[in-house]
Amino acid sequence: MAGGEALRKFVAPEIVFGEGALELAGRFVRNLGGRRILVVSDPGVIAAGWTEKVLESLKGANLSVAVYENVRTNPSTASVMEGASVFVREQCDMILAVGGGSPMDCAKAIGAVVSNEQHVLEFEGVDNVSLPPPPLVCVPTTAGSAADVSQFAIITDEVRKVKFAIISKTMVPDVALVDPRTTLTMEKNLTVATGMDALTHAVEAYVSDASSPLTDLHALETVRLVARHLPGAAAALDNLEHRRGMMLASLYAGLAFSNAGLGMVHALAHSLGGALDLPHGECNALLLRHGCAANHSAVPERFARILQAFREGECMTSVCPVAPTPPEKVLEELVARVEVLGGISGIAVRLRDFGLRREDIPRIARFAYQDACLLTNPRHLDAAELEEVLHGAW
Ligand SMILES: [Fe+2]
Repeated sequence: MAGGEALRKFVAPEIVFGEGALELAGRFVRNLGGRRILVVSDPGVIAAGWTEKVLESLKGANLSVAVYENVRTNPSTASVMEGASVFVREQCDMILAVGGGSPMDCAKAIGAVVSNEQHVLEFEGVDNVSLPPPPLVCVPTTAGSAADVSQFAIITDEVRKVKFAIISKTMVPDVALVDPRTTLTMEKNLTVATGMDALTHAVEAYVSDASSPLTDLHALETVRLVARHLPGAAAALDNLEHRRGMMLASLYAGLAFSNAGLGMVHALAHSLGGALDLPHGECNALLLRHGCAANHSAVPERFARILQAFREGECMTSVCPVAPTPPEKVLEELVARVEVLGGISGIAVRLRDFGLRREDIPRIARFAYQDACLLTNPRHLDAAELEEVLHGAW
């Protein structure tokens, strides 16, 4: 039931937001009692220089480190198990992740593996991590995944060729050091794709069956911030004000979806991304409008409020002077906005542009139907209905 009638809880890590948060890594790790730290990162973030800055902060606090950098886009179970063996071999006692969703999700799963001494595949689904992982500090370098604040870790099973979700309160990092400067090195395509991921988090959380006043607040503010700052961030990649706005949007969206859950767009994006090894943000950017269309009839008043938040963001005011859109026009106007934002860069607009074959659609729909994110979708959809949505997007 969407709304405030049911009992709801809200979990979040300790968060430091603002320019300079990154330099606090050493202090926070020391306060958490860490002595030997496994730093999880990836080659792109290392090349951008952010990992080195974090390492400097750790070394400045007299902490010893081991670096695990073999994380690729869409982290695999093999990568998680390899990182866990580095943690054990190097006798680490804490984990710090620097990067986008891939290194952060990998770090979360590594923590679950080392404390529970289980294979990562055993944690799939909701509440399957028994023992809490070692302390985890996250330094996000994209404005989208919000893995630094969420209860989710998304891992790719290379055997089944599917992404699976680990959803557990134990997956919430201890500290998120959110420094908007780290997003200045993102190129345009990644800026838009990750921004669309944040927008999708907000929309899905707001229409989720598990939404509440606590999550609605963050979801709607995300929509305003994305409308206000994503076009500017994509047009001027070095504009720190827009980068800050998008980093805040990502953070708010993370707090919303972590506690309200997601929906069919993420279920489909996980299935599609796992099958074709596609970037997560691009899958969401393509699928979001189809998700809005499929879910609109279940919660039309919620979609009307999302459109209003869009307009408030565009107007740069908290109260938009433009008259509300008539109900029969809401979906059309909302979809048009989503298309414009996603169209800022060269993200594919049809699933066939991703290389998806029509004959693969039933399999994508079947895996999406099993995804934990579908549990909170406002409309119940079976595998055949998900197939229909995919055909519409093909
Ligand atoms: Fe996402």
